[in-house]
Amino acid sequence: MTHYDAIVLGAGAAGMMAAIEAGRRGRQVLLVDHANSPGEKIRISGGGRCNFTNTNATVETARERFLSQNPRFALSALSRYTPADFIKLVDRHTIAHHEKTLGQLFCDGSALEIINMLMTELKRARVTVALSTSLEAVEKTEDGFAVRLSSGRVTCERLVIATGGKSIPKMGATGLGYKIAEQFGLAVTQTRPALVPLTFEPGALEKLKPMAGISTDAVVGHGRTRFEEALLFTHRGLSGPAILQISSYWREGDAIVVDLLPGGDAMDLLREARAKTPRLAIQTVLAQHLPKRLAQMLGDELDLPGMVGDFSDKKLEKVATFIKGWTLKPVGSEGYRTAEVTLGGIDTRELDAKTFETRKVPGLYFIGEVVDVTGWLGGYNFQWAWASGWAAGQAI
Ligand code: FDA
Repeated sequence: MTHYDAIVLGAGAAGMMAAIEAGRRGRQVLLVDHANSPGEKIRISGGGRCNFTNTNATVETARERFLSQNPRFALSALSRYTPADFIKLVDRHTIAHHEKTLGQLFCDGSALEIINMLMTELKRARVTVALSTSLEAVEKTEDGFAVRLSSGRVTCERLVIATGGKSIPKMGATGLGYKIAEQFGLAVTQTRPALVPLTFEPGALEKLKPMAGISTDAVVGHGRTRFEEALLFTHRGLSGPAILQISSYWREGDAIVVDLLPGGDAMDLLREARAKTPRLAIQTVLAQHLPKRLAQMLGDELDLPGMVGDFSDKKLEKVATFIKGWTLKPVGSEGYRTAEVTLGGIDTRELDAKTFETRKVPGLYFIGEVVDVTGWLGGYNFQWAWASGWAAGQAI
């Protein structure tokens, strides 16, 4: 039976980083994945260009931008492996990249460059990579773990679980990490799809559907949380970065509030329209500031016939309040089928924030998305994967 210092289960972003770091330290590492190629989510991320980090994923912003039952948990790893560290690695491999918006860094070329970089580093670190290999059983032994893989039995001192969350089962997400946690009596916080489009009941959807394909800048809010980014109408409901972001905060039964004129004073615009173009209908006035089909739908909803020149201040205020605070009640989300990430996961109280080792089972580690730490959209989740992987890689 082959013995390894460490086995890392899951060759995604977190698992590859942990294996590279441990291998560099001279540890004998086996990296296992049931998929036939590593980093499948890296490949499809960022529309094929991989938004591999965010320059704002720092300790200063972490408590706001990484969601967890314990918002302090992520700080140690994020402070020890920063976006600058990953950018250095990317630069060493001469991968051209650019900032798209809001600190989001993307490859100029393809996400495959990031996967190739990690594969090169795995090779340099002499990590053994076993693809198309699944885990059948794991048990604790006196000095480590006995692991039954589809290719045979192996043993190790340290076992790292980096199997990701439940999102996109079609791409290999299995929820295995949660099952292993359960096997060892570790707590898992409630999980739910996040960074996911929101859906609506049939009546509301009928009104939204004709706008499918329209994208507009908006501020989307839930409680005190607000995101100013693009909002996209789809055949199933609402999507786009602003909606994906708010979906991590939204809960069933809650409403979301959409400001369709971000930064603009709606009353000023409407008064100006009343003075300068008094003969226009309200739909036509709104169409000067919003996509035409959206303006039409909002005008129909407002049901204020006549010319804007005849509108009282009170009527204008009704319009202004509506477009600055359009309130919608989603019924659900598209679920794990399209969610970018899973909110919740291994309860951080089970883990050492520096090493990611479980307190109850010495030698067992959890890193990446399977842990109850979920970042904002825009490179935060990969930065968490790199940072938690790096931290475990120093410890195993
Ligand atoms: P990840 O899911 O990457 O890896 C887990 C690995 O474990 C997989 O290789 C899987 O095959 C393997 N595995 C699972 N079960 C197994 C089993 N039973 N046996 C063996 N192996 C098993 N984030 C970001 O920061 N920027 C971005 O641009 C994007 N874009 C994006 C697009 C889309 C469509 C999705 C779905 C997600 C993103 N994300 C993202 C999120 C990002 O992909 C995610 O946070 C990281 O991939 C998480 O890394 P992990 O290594 O933790 O899990």
